[in-house]
Amino acid sequence: MASPPLVQMRNVHRRFHLGETIVEAVAGVSLDIHTGGFLAVWGPSGSGKSTLMNLIGLIDAPSEGEVWFEGVDTHRMADNALTDFRSHRVGFVFQNFNLIPVLSARENVMLPLQIAGLSPQKASTQATEMLVEVGLERFLTSRPDQLSGGQRQRVAIARALAIQPKLVVADEPTANLDSENSHMVVNMMRQMNRLHGVTFVFTTHDPRLLDNVDRKVLLHDGRVEQDEILSCNS
Ligand SMILES: Nc1ncnc2c1ncn2[C@@H]1O[C@H](COP(=O)(O)OP(=O)(O)O)[C@@H](O)[C@H]1O
Ligand SMILES: [Mg+2]
Repeated sequence: MASPPLVQMRNVHRRFHLGETIVEAVAGVSLDIHTGGFLAVWGPSGSGKSTLMNLIGLIDAPSEGEVWFEGVDTHRMADNALTDFRSHRVGFVFQNFNLIPVLSARENVMLPLQIAGLSPQKASTQATEMLVEVGLERFLTSRPDQLSGGQRQRVAIARALAIQPKLVVADEPTANLDSENSHMVVNMMRQMNRLHGVTFVFTTHDPRLLDNVDRKVLLHDGRVEQDEILSCNS
């Protein structure tokens, strides 16, 4: 039997109450995301990209509709079970890198591994391997403020991959980078997607970063306006 899609969204809505008014940030999205894909969600500011990413990454829950992950209806899971489920399956990359300033690149990547219960020695070995993969072997002991934006984001990618997730969710990972570093970061994510078979979903408002993706989902006012599948791998 074929395995289910990694993520299945069924008529998902997410509404926020602002006083008397209700903002519908995600307004009825149905989307299947398959294992191994490299998918971009793009659209203008305010189109619902971040809200959708939080739902895909299981850090937020729909107001209506369902999000299934590996064939499991996440709505039926208790909060702590869901947190545990997510922490073994989903890695996150953020616009502001979210690295811990007083820790070295290697210590930042070690952190999720130590939280997962690895010994410091094992965590250090694995973190070093990940940083070598993203081309930062010369910066293992550098702190974030000693690295460029592009290098910081590569540390964040290594950290997201350290736990060997099924899915990496990256919300506007290039928003604080210049165009050269933006392309470098997208290419690095693509390389990691191919090397490890990890599914990536990233958002951007910049269509110039969509050259190399398997699938482009265009959001507008919380709805999927266009869904272009460019490779069967999506
Ligand atoms: N926590 C929130 N409370 C109220 N409104 C929100 C919240 N998060 C997002 N929104 C609103 O939902 C819409 C979509 O926001 P967002 O998902 O951040 O879009 P994007 O990431 O594409 O810029 C916007 O109108 C935004 O103001
Ligand atoms: Mg956003």
